[in-house]
Amino acid sequence: MDSSLPLVVNRSGGVPLHLQVAEQFRAAVVDGRLLAGHRLPSTRELARQLGVSRAVAQSAYDQLHAEGWIEGRTGAGTFVTDVAPLRPVERRRTTFHPAPDSDLLVLRPGIPFIDPTPDPGWRRAWREVSAQSPPRGYDDAAGLPALRVALAEHVGRVRGIACGPENILVTNGTVHGLRLLLAVTRRPGERIAIEDPGYLNAVVAAHDHGLAIVDVPVDRDGLQVSALTDDLPAVYVTPSHQYPLGGRLPVARRNELIRWARRTGAMLIEDDYDSEFRFDVAPLPALAQLDLDRVVHLGTLSKTLSPALRLGWLVASDTTVDRLAFFRANSGDWPGWPMQAALLAMLRDGYLDQAIRKHRRRYAERRTHTCSVLAPYGRVIGQDAGLHITLLLPDHLDDRAISAQARAAGVTVGALSEHRRSIPGPPGLVIGYATPTTEHLHQALTILTEVLIRAGSKG
Ligand SMILES: Cc1ncc(COP(=O)(O)O)c(C=O)c1O
Repeated sequence: MDSSLPLVVNRSGGVPLHLQVAEQFRAAVVDGRLLAGHRLPSTRELARQLGVSRAVAQSAYDQLHAEGWIEGRTGAGTFVTDVAPLRPVERRRTTFHPAPDSDLLVLRPGIPFIDPTPDPGWRRAWREVSAQSPPRGYDDAAGLPALRVALAEHVGRVRGIACGPENILVTNGTVHGLRLLLAVTRRPGERIAIEDPGYLNAVVAAHDHGLAIVDVPVDRDGLQVSALTDDLPAVYVTPSHQYPLGGRLPVARRNELIRWARRTGAMLIEDDYDSEFRFDVAPLPALAQLDLDRVVHLGTLSKTLSPALRLGWLVASDTTVDRLAFFRANSGDWPGWPMQAALLAMLRDGYLDQAIRKHRRRYAERRTHTCSVLAPYGRVIGQDAGLHITLLLPDHLDDRAISAQARAAGVTVGALSEHRRSIPGPPGLVIGYATPTTEHLHQALTILTEVLIRAGSKG
């Protein structure tokens, strides 16, 4: 050993000893203190010199060996290699800031209530998954075959869509399915009609794919089908509960939309994000129920169980599903087996239906309360379905300013104007009632009404 190479270890620095030793050897090679061919001490000598265990010395050499700095020659010892490897670039570390747990009362739309005590059905599904070994190879890119069968049955029963597993593609949720669909079926530069006001993530997805977005007006029943021109190749629509105004597209307009698409050859993209929740109103047929050749239907678990699951499904003609699965097979971009297996267990066990029934009762009560508290401060619309209502405000009020004031007072709530693009309309608040506990909802609404009164909304 070159005794001129001073090695030290710092036992209080928090860095493992073998890494400290390895780093000092690397530095010595890089700055020329140790030359190629130089013989290093045995691990026993090194351990003695440093006052560390032999295992530490051995680990340091293993690390240097693995990185190519040193080599062992049988019977002769350990030597610095001829070609010193490149030194990795110093990584500048940025500080890691996880989103803090917020004390704010959340009335943002679209986030379901999560029970802090998991249901037995939830636990059963995960137990079932954990008792299985994972599949041997890569999964089917369209989704687990058994899950596709179960989802076809589910959307048939719950949404009336007559389809088979060949029509189902398992996704990481609506936006994932939408982005995949746009990437595979739409050409950049093409036009796509999107409701205005509408779902911003859909707008961003279309924009990212280079599509030209055509803003289509919405009234309290949903998309104004008569505003669609015949040269539009695709339309994104939320017929079961227009986002964010909450209209439910009436049957006559659904039929008109399907007739229009059949005549023009356009693709209708049906975002069915919260159709599971409807209150005291009859179900309306999904567009996909009417024509699976013209409609691609997007479903999600984000509103029924949790957006954190990142799981959903896309229902389309078998040729479209095949094209999407083929594309996906090359990207590896589909939900992992444990998630899919858990959803399969939840569907087979009836847990998803049961969770929806339970939430529906909970949300019905909250919705009634929210509407009655807020009715004096504006016009409540969109209350027949979903997890949010919209409160239209008098024209002179600034909804973003009211949303900021509510936030300052401890409540987060969406401003309707954030969802508008080119088509003007009244200000409003988009208010989700699902997320908080009932007690927190009451508190949040009290705060919000005080903010509204201060803003001059009463009367
Ligand atoms: C209109 C609309 N579509 C879809 C979703 C859900 O998207 P994902 O399934 O990607 O979570 C939301 C959630 O807020 C939504 O508001």
